[in-house]
Amino acid sequence: MVSHKEARKLKQAQRRGMTGLANAAAAEAPISLSFTLRGYEDGKPFERELHALDRWATQAADSISVTISTTSAPHTDIKVFPPLTVHLKQRASVFIGGQLWNTAFILACWFYSRHAHGIHDYGALRVCEVGAGIGLLALALAALDARVTATDLADVVPILDDNVARNPHLAMGAGGVPRITAAALDWGDKDAVVPGYPFDLVVACDCIYSEVSAGDLVECLVRLCSPVEAGGKAPATTVWVVSEVRNESIQQAFLEQAREIFEIGYMDIVKDVAPYLPAELRAGLNVRWYIMKLKPGKEE
Ligand SMILES: C[S@@+](CC[C@H](N)C(=O)[O-])C[C@H]1O[C@@H](n2cnc3c(N)ncnc32)[C@H](O)[C@@H]1O
Repeated sequence: MVSHKEARKLKQAQRRGMTGLANAAAAEAPISLSFTLRGYEDGKPFERELHALDRWATQAADSISVTISTTSAPHTDIKVFPPLTVHLKQRASVFIGGQLWNTAFILACWFYSRHAHGIHDYGALRVCEVGAGIGLLALALAALDARVTATDLADVVPILDDNVARNPHLAMGAGGVPRITAAALDWGDKDAVVPGYPFDLVVACDCIYSEVSAGDLVECLVRLCSPVEAGGKAPATTVWVVSEVRNESIQQAFLEQAREIFEIGYMDIVKDVAPYLPAELRAGLNVRWYIMKLKPGKEE
């Protein structure tokens, strides 16, 4: 339960955030996003290009081609970078994992933009994504040369595999070495063996959506972390849990369980996220980004 005091603080932070986002939205954007939706409407094929997020329209499409590119704006701190184009198929029949969610667009844009700003080099970073869905974020990370294990429920893995196969230009590294592996990982499966372990970064994109699954998600994240090094050194694995805030009490249910085991910080959405995004994604940005490190002695 969120106390009255906590709820007031969250509301104040949200108000401050909205002002900050309005300012950020007015600033020049370093990258742009466009995506083409294809599918059938009233029995007729359609193709529609969008620049702003529209979850319902997006999830109604059969396939989506996403392009993220640097803008021609004169940013001195940004490299002109080849556009990133990802081709994705959706399968609405497969629970929530067969469709693309808004936070995946935000994270894919953020990583690409940070890379273009030369801030992070994701080359050779070992990343595990949990609840990867149809694979936009995993493919974007692979394109930035990370080694990615993209995981989801067993029913979703064939979609992930199919989308990896549709994007050999992103999924294959030098000499045809795959940069991305799809694998089944149910958060509740304590015995799962995850290819690619250990990881530098574990990412959960839009995976906080139910109070029931929050505990399993936390336990799964713990198992994916490397043990904390002895001698007071920083833990090796960082966990990023990033979600659209659709329901505050579900966020709190996740946090309550995660706090027992992880040190938790917050990414500043106004200062550290919005400025890297396309203008259309800044307005109404409603995501929360937990930066988590295992507390010493809390590993499995
Ligand atoms: C809201 S979707 C987000 C998908 C994707 N990350 C995105 O942003 O487009 C939540 C994801 O969590 C996955 N998921 C739900 N429960 C799970 C569980 N118990 N174990 C593994 N994955 C699970 C779903 O299959 C789905 O892909």
